Amino acid sequence: MANDLLRGKRGIIFGALDEKSIAWKVALRCHEEGAAFTLTNAPVALRLGTINKLASECKAQVIPADVTAVPDLENLFTKSTEALGGKIDFILHSVGMSPNVRKGRGYTDLDYDFYHKTLDISALSLHKVLQTAQRMDVLSEGGSVVALTYIAAQRVFPDYGDMADAKAILESITRSYGYHLGKAKKIRINTVSQSPTKTTAGSGVKGFDSFYNYADAMSPLGNADAASCADYCVSLFSDLTRMVTMQNLFNDGGFSYTGVSREVMEKFSS
Ligand SMILES: NC(=O)c1ccc[n+]([C@@H]2O[C@H](COP(=O)([O-])OP(=O)(O)OC[C@H]3O[C@@H](n4cnc5c(N)ncnc54)[C@H](O)[C@@H]3O)[C@@H](O)[C@H]2O)c1
Repeated sequence: MANDLLRGKRGIIFGALDEKSIAWKVALRCHEEGAAFTLTNAPVALRLGTINKLASECKAQVIPADVTAVPDLENLFTKSTEALGGKIDFILHSVGMSPNVRKGRGYTDLDYDFYHKTLDISALSLHKVLQTAQRMDVLSEGGSVVALTYIAAQRVFPDYGDMADAKAILESITRSYGYHLGKAKKIRINTVSQSPTKTTAGSGVKGFDSFYNYADAMSPLGNADAASCADYCVSLFSDLTRMVTMQNLFNDGGFSYTGVSREVMEKFSS
């Protein structure tokens, strides 16, 4: 169901690792809607993942960048504007990683070097992307930036660990930078708060399956999958949402506003 919603737009998509990645699905949908874009990921992820398959399907150039390294981002922006032939209309930030979560270190047993890494990769990186892009003046007037987040920024999910803090900062950067880029160039910045989704990053969280099933039972529409997230991102990159900015938008089947569902209540009936 393509409607040419992104025809003529140029973008950069961060975070497609393999076919399960949310960014992978977003890239395919953006391609269907007529966008041209570059793909980027950390050099190590490019070696381990299967991004070249996606790149050939989308006719996209792959440009390595560690999202925490400003020189890498400068190189990414220079090469992307050259490859795409102009300024960037949209960016997807679909990046998250917590060494603490990976190594099974819970919220009351954090390693602080890891904690810094979590915040740098998963949150401060959005600021680095925006500040570098603004300094290099590579973003188009009226452009759109979307970063992916999770409801653990607002509510406690004990096993989400230090990623909850990272997502809270990510959402705050979205509001703060959204003001400045809105004023400067009418650029929109929003976060999409996504349901639990079976990806490499998602499945790394302890007890992910129970987490996933609980959210599914709590949401009137059920869990939102990566394909629906991709559709939502396309709408946010399009001109149809040109007045939406600085928002945290839930793509979660109604989970965020449900107190309890009958399915969950039944589990507690005696
Ligand atoms: N899967 C879920 O349940 C879920 C739910 C809500 C939000 N999210 C968010 O969606 C986004 C995408 O995650 P996903 O679920 O598709 O998993 P994923 O593992 O496919 O994607 C995470 C990406 O981050 C990249 N990355 C890690 N460190 C990096 C670095 N230093 N530089 C550049 N890239 C780096 C990885 O290589 C990977 O491509 C993340 O922000 C995640 O927190 C996921």
